[in-house]
Amino acid sequence: MSLQLLLFDFVDWSSASGIPQIAYAVSTLFRLAWIVICLVLFAVLLYQSASIFLKFLTYPSAIVTSLNYGSIPFPVIYICNSNPLRLDYIDQYKTTDFKDLYNWANQYSAMLSSNWGDVSPDDYGINNGLDRYDKTLRGRETIVLLMAQLTTTQLDKAANKASAFIRNCNFNNAECNSNNFTSYYDATYGACFIFNIDERRETQRAGSNYGFHFLMVVNQVDPKGNRIFLPVTDSAGVYISIQPKGGDPAMETFGIGAPVGQNTQIGMTYVSQ
Ligand SMILES: *[C@@H]1O[C@H](CO)[C@@H](O)[C@H](O)[C@H]1NC(C)=O
Repeated sequence: MSLQLLLFDFVDWSSASGIPQIAYAVSTLFRLAWIVICLVLFAVLLYQSASIFLKFLTYPSAIVTSLNYGSIPFPVIYICNSNPLRLDYIDQYKTTDFKDLYNWANQYSAMLSSNWGDVSPDDYGINNGLDRYDKTLRGRETIVLLMAQLTTTQLDKAANKASAFIRNCNFNNAECNSNNFTSYYDATYGACFIFNIDERRETQRAGSNYGFHFLMVVNQVDPKGNRIFLPVTDSAGVYISIQPKGGDPAMETFGIGAPVGQNTQIGMTYVSQ
């Protein structure tokens, strides 16, 4: 068998579509043209194979992101009045349980009335404050120290009451009220209130409609114009701390201040891994 016959046999039976054309070309010119076309296409084949191989060597990866919606645990909400005790209740026990707090509150009020000037007598170092800011800070510290000397039973007499403080609330479109809150004592803010202490509530959807709404009453003066809270009045409002399961309210550090007369919205993002 000659080489020519062998080659002819190959191109005749080849399933690569251009090659049989070489065998059956009508003239040498066509045959040359088909040879050139086949060589060019073979070069393209090599080029594509090489580029696929090189791409493989970069080890590309595909990441598929999927969002799985489901209910997630709702955090625990801690709420404190920025004024820890009510002056009108302190007034009722001014010679017994709250003797010191009452004296201090009177001297502090006198200092406020004299436009942050010196007072006499000054049993609690109010005059040592350098300026308005320093005096307010010292005032807050004095309340903390004086409160720390009281027992819970004594504190209860002048603490904010849930029923007077929490006007109404709503979670996930379900009504709730002050009975849905539990109270605890914070060293700085006195009686504070907790929603979802049992951590059983869940939320299914994002957005403020499916969250927790509440209305607080934070009075500073009674209808007759008398101060009804301790007279550190620079920041009337509430402090709110939102913590995940088992978190620490850490009101002093993480508390978010909400002023009176305002609608405060707090949004959270939830990340799971
Ligand atoms: C509030 O408490 C009541 C009575 O225990 C309960 O039926 C209701 O579901 C609670 N509300 C919320 C929003 O948890």
